[in-house]
Amino acid sequence: MLQQPIKMMSNSFNICVFISGTGSNLEALLKKQEENDYNIVLVISNKKNAKGLDFAKQYDIPTYTFKWDKSDDKLLHLQEKINKYQTDLIVLAGFMRILPTQFTNDFNNKIINIHPSLLPKYKGLHTHQRALDNNDNIHGATVHYVNAQLDDGEIISQIIISIEENMSEQQLAEKLLFREHSLYPRTIGLIAQNRVEWINDTLCFDQKTLEKPIEIND
Ligand code: GRF
Repeated sequence: MLQQPIKMMSNSFNICVFISGTGSNLEALLKKQEENDYNIVLVISNKKNAKGLDFAKQYDIPTYTFKWDKSDDKLLHLQEKINKYQTDLIVLAGFMRILPTQFTNDFNNKIINIHPSLLPKYKGLHTHQRALDNNDNIHGATVHYVNAQLDDGEIISQIIISIEENMSEQQLAEKLLFREHSLYPRTIGLIAQNRVEWINDTLCFDQKTLEKPIEIND
């Protein structure tokens, strides 16, 4: 379990958030920037009408929208924006596209994602229903680094919730989404404070190899 965080000095840690839809995680990330030592400098969406863009506007954060082109394997126009805003970390929050290998290689260990399951269980879609169909009694969400495979890459942290009897898919999804809104900002805070970092290609937590996901329960 995660111990009380030790506040450490950190220079401005800039993140760029990618969304495709509702953006409830983006809203939570916006509200919890200060307490977790990061700044959202840019929001990117592949859907020009994504509801989440309204949250960025409320907070005066620049936005960039583009049309997904699956033949574009470099996404240079995104790279240009990301670099212009001196982004330290790319944060996928409900971004519903798989980024091309060249892009994930160019930003190796600089992209994270939140996925609504206890990875490596239930990669892909319909995670809540799959947990219910499997009669699981726990479920959860995972924050992980992104590579070119779907919902793959080194796992950083997880939040675990119980599945109550006769829960519907929607009830389970809502219960988990609410908890994701703590998990994601807290995890980014750990990266911004250098408590989670890559040391010689090994993912470390407080300078020790991260052997299992950091459990964040509040
Ligand atoms: C969340 O369930 C997240 O885990 C998944 O996509 C959903 C995004 O929801 N990657 P929102 O757009 O942040 O409300």
